[in-house]
Amino acid sequence: MRPDFLMQLFILNLGVQSFVLFIYLSYYFQILLTKYFNKVENVYDYIIVGSGTAGSVIAHRLAAETNFTFIVIEAGGKSNSLFEIPVLTPMLHNSVYDWQYETVPQENACLAMNNKKCKLPQGKIVGGSSKINNMVHVRGNISHYAAWFHGKYDENYLIDHFETVERDMLHLNEINFESELVEAMSEAAEQLGYSRLNSDFKIGYSKSKLSQKNGKRWTISDSLDLSKYVLSNALVEKVVIRNGVAKGVSIQIVDKKHNVFAKKGVILSAGTFNTPKILQLSGIGPANVLKSVNIPIVKNLPVGYNLQDHVTTGFDLILINKTLSVNPMSMLDFRNVYEYFVNGKGPLTTAGCELITFLSTKGDKVPDIQFMVMPVGISSDRGSHLRLALGISDTVWENYFENVFDKHAATILPIVLHPKSRGEVYIVNTDPKSPPLIDPKYLNCNEDVKTLINGLKLVEKFLNTPAMKEMGAYINPQHFPNCESHTIFSDAYWDCYVRHLTLSSYHPVGTCSMGLTSSNSVVDTNFRVFSVANLYVVDASVLPTLPSGNINAAVAMMASVFFDENVKSVKITNTNMYCYKYQLIADLFYKICR
Ligand SMILES: Cc1cc2nc3c(=O)[nH]c(=O)nc-3n(C[C@H](O)[C@H](O)[C@H](O)COP(=O)(O)OP(=O)(O)OC[C@H]3O[C@@H](n4cnc5c(N)ncnc54)[C@H](O)[C@@H]3O)c2cc1C
Ligand SMILES: *[C@@H]1O[C@H](CO)[C@@H](O)[C@H](O)[C@H]1NC(C)=O
Ligand SMILES: *[C@@H]1O[C@H](CO)[C@@H](O)[C@H](O)[C@H]1NC(C)=O
Ligand SMILES: *[C@@H]1O[C@H](CO)[C@@H](O)[C@H](O)[C@H]1NC(C)=O
Repeated sequence: MRPDFLMQLFILNLGVQSFVLFIYLSYYFQILLTKYFNKVENVYDYIIVGSGTAGSVIAHRLAAETNFTFIVIEAGGKSNSLFEIPVLTPMLHNSVYDWQYETVPQENACLAMNNKKCKLPQGKIVGGSSKINNMVHVRGNISHYAAWFHGKYDENYLIDHFETVERDMLHLNEINFESELVEAMSEAAEQLGYSRLNSDFKIGYSKSKLSQKNGKRWTISDSLDLSKYVLSNALVEKVVIRNGVAKGVSIQIVDKKHNVFAKKGVILSAGTFNTPKILQLSGIGPANVLKSVNIPIVKNLPVGYNLQDHVTTGFDLILINKTLSVNPMSMLDFRNVYEYFVNGKGPLTTAGCELITFLSTKGDKVPDIQFMVMPVGISSDRGSHLRLALGISDTVWENYFENVFDKHAATILPIVLHPKSRGEVYIVNTDPKSPPLIDPKYLNCNEDVKTLINGLKLVEKFLNTPAMKEMGAYINPQHFPNCESHTIFSDAYWDCYVRHLTLSSYHPVGTCSMGLTSSNSVVDTNFRVFSVANLYVVDASVLPTLPSGNINAAVAMMASVFFDENVKSVKITNTNMYCYKYQLIADLFYKICR
């Protein structure tokens, strides 16, 4: 490495390591607090498992609109204001605030990663994945959501729920600092005949709309009274089910176990990987999976199947001969730090994705590719963090990414909006602490590869516009390692490239799909788990297909629909409080207490 790059690596590493130390200290301090000070009742009306996007929407509305008692049980710890600095988000990936999941080795994808495994970050923190995401807010194509409910609701009803969430629980702003790339890409889009989008998500382009308040990350959990409603650092092991009725959950707080009971319902909002895991541990899942780990079958349901994710590629595919105003060294500039803390502005508010476009590779009016445009690449931090967070193998790092240190690398991710590949999530033992196996089967369907290649051709088209040429941007001319035998930028080359640099947009859905029958879905159109009373799933796992865009808003909308249909209409009744008062009695008499 050249001495100046080594110096940068040293400085960035110093920054990264101090932040990692801070992350650990804040984590273990909280664990200690939880161990000695935690307050949990034996019984509530509702138990919500997980304080992520969906869990927070439900909790917010329960607190604001009802007198029901409830608790949100969250495995992760609390966030703090340094974690909320948008540009530091990637630092939480691969940390103790991330479940640190990864795929099983992929046959035909993720080949540039260590052991052919792609990393799949998911927030393990109060706020869930919305505390570690890119904050981009997109409603997507509403007619897809109407289809999930099989005609039960019209589009206006669903739009009302988006509005409820956006008005009462979120703060949305256009990006408040932009690099030179935004103007160049907007101009490029105009030169190619695309127009600027407003709130609709047709073909076109738009600056990212972000969930931020005064430049700081804002999540739905931020509108909750955490000390009143959220029990953090508490892992839900499984749902307690008796005679086909969900009675509560068993939890671990640090090293102690408890049961907590719910009179009206247990709501699983633990996310696309953890909700199926909890269900399977509770005896609800595919018979073969349950048999393989000797869990008695409560209900045979396709829990864990139908996993889908927005697959993409393209980090550092764009090189620019000048340095843009968003780069890691500028983050250490005191003026920018001041600008952030005093005015809530400047490059530290950068969320990664500055601009989005919706495009069709078929040239029609229905988007099948979304671009996320980022002013940096993974080489930008010189290897101090992003490389490790993605699990890029040493040879690929040394033979590709290290070679672009002398340029400014940027990224346009072409995202396959409606991938055809389907994967699965399943447990391999009965330990609630061990991770489920996740096999997304990325790029198993050739159609996904084709769409991705056509997406890359659209990236090339953008780079060939006068606007992008004028800013000195061009496609990274290096052969990707292991793809040297193909003519560069030929279809065969791109095929090899996408199978190596396969990336997730971190939008997994579908593992507890909503549908009409228990043969191909896990919950009905009322979010009720088939054949188990008082048990609901409300999170990204119920989405039966992927939205046309980033998915967080759709998950929040679904949670709001759930609340209206299942909670708001329920009346408070004072039954059987004494039954639950003492843990032992409750455990013994759960049957007569119903
Ligand atoms: C890195 C990243 C970037 C993303 N970028 C964007 C973006 O820019 N725009 C967008 O729209 N979407 C984005 N997403 C997706 C979006 O954030 C998620 O789809 C959304 O947060 C999912 O909400 P959820 O409620 O289903 O689950 P989550 O928000 O993940 O919440 C699940 C919660 O349950 C908790 N939990 C899990 N298991 C247990 C257990 N056993 N006991 C107790 N608690 C448990 C978890 O710790 C977590 O807090 C991104 C996601 C990631 C990971
Ligand atoms: C909640 O309780 C208060 C006080 O008893 C009552 O005034 C209010 O109407 C109740 N709200 C709901 C939504 O039931
Ligand atoms: C939205 O989805 C519907 C149903 O799939 C489709 O007919 C329509 O063209 C889509 N619109 C856009 C802009 O994607
Ligand atoms: C960028 O610099 C390289 C050499 O460093 C040069 O070959 C190339 O033509 C330049 N590209 C543009 C678009 O200026």
